[in-house]
Amino acid sequence: MKILGIESSCDETAAAIVEDGAKILSNVVVSQIDIHAEYGGVIPEIAARSHIEAINPVLHKAFADANLTIDDIDAIAVTHTPGLVGSLLAGTLAARTLAVLHDKPFYPTHHLKSHIYANWLSGYQPEFPLLAAVISGGHTQIIYMERHDHFEIIGTTRDDAIGECFDKVAKILGLPYPGGPAIANAAKNGNPTKYHLPIPKVDGLDFSFSGIKTAVLRAVQKELNLPITTPSYELQKHLSEQQIADFAASFQATAVDILIKKLKKAAETHPAKSVLLAGGVSANQLLREELKKHFEKTHKVYFPEPKFSTDNGAMVASAAYFSIQSGEKASDPYQLDISPRSVIR
Ligand code: KG4
Ligand code: ZN
Repeated sequence: MKILGIESSCDETAAAIVEDGAKILSNVVVSQIDIHAEYGGVIPEIAARSHIEAINPVLHKAFADANLTIDDIDAIAVTHTPGLVGSLLAGTLAARTLAVLHDKPFYPTHHLKSHIYANWLSGYQPEFPLLAAVISGGHTQIIYMERHDHFEIIGTTRDDAIGECFDKVAKILGLPYPGGPAIANAAKNGNPTKYHLPIPKVDGLDFSFSGIKTAVLRAVQKELNLPITTPSYELQKHLSEQQIADFAASFQATAVDILIKKLKKAAETHPAKSVLLAGGVSANQLLREELKKHFEKTHKVYFPEPKFSTDNGAMVASAAYFSIQSGEKASDPYQLDISPRSVIR
């Protein structure tokens, strides 16, 4: 079964054709990162306009790379939630138009579900039950899956998402957007134990990341001996390269530690055979190494190939394929509901 997957929920315009949920026939991603980097974050209005410009060339290339035409496609899947409304509208309109004109079965797909299924794109078949850490710019959740299409959220963030925290800490340190890769890069030359950042005390399997961002800000102000009213754009001018590296390394180590501790706690109450990472932050190398170190003896450990960690169309096609296998029926493209926020179901 060949599925066209379309993704446009944030700042990547992407389309891919995937066979049977795992075999990639094409995968095209156009990132707007350079455009948004200028502003230090995603500007929704600009993102929507950029998707509209990019979507048709991206679709064209996805078909050309796979050497297929729309006639060869068995179904169309598209991210319809969660995400930026203007961005979602661009991708879903393209998908609906194709589905209506060519009479193709149409599958609206949840973005976080797609991130999880990025783990099926490298030929692996993670065994159930499993624990998935969905860690992206907008979400931080631990999801327990007993089988395909069973998603139980057992932990979630009470404030900022972990990726958002990487992005905000990067901003404090004067590093570019997106903050995740910039922090990981700066941290290579830093000492992860140089600055002590408190681990937030949150009951159960929930997270809180907003306090760490403030803790980094206070630690920078203290290190530079500047008053707590000093804005971050002022602080950056005084930070040496080594101080930036040490703050980046200390923050990264703390964020990874928080996540690993919660995953270990989750594994105590939710017996699982596999543990997997999903979402943009799963590209983090330290996190991958620590996950392996802590879980390799007891679980099978999975993470997506780096190119499938961040937003792409292949994971959308894969998620839709496994939903179809589990009995999901095609939707009416005229009745599509898009929403900026929603819980995985
Ligand atoms: O999944 P994604 O592409 O978009 C959302 O659905 O949000 O995730 C983007 C997030 C950003 O916050 C970015 O800083 C983070 O993923 N990220 C990373 C790394 N690469 C991307 N965070 C930590 N380490 C990385 N190597
Ligand atoms: Zn995403």
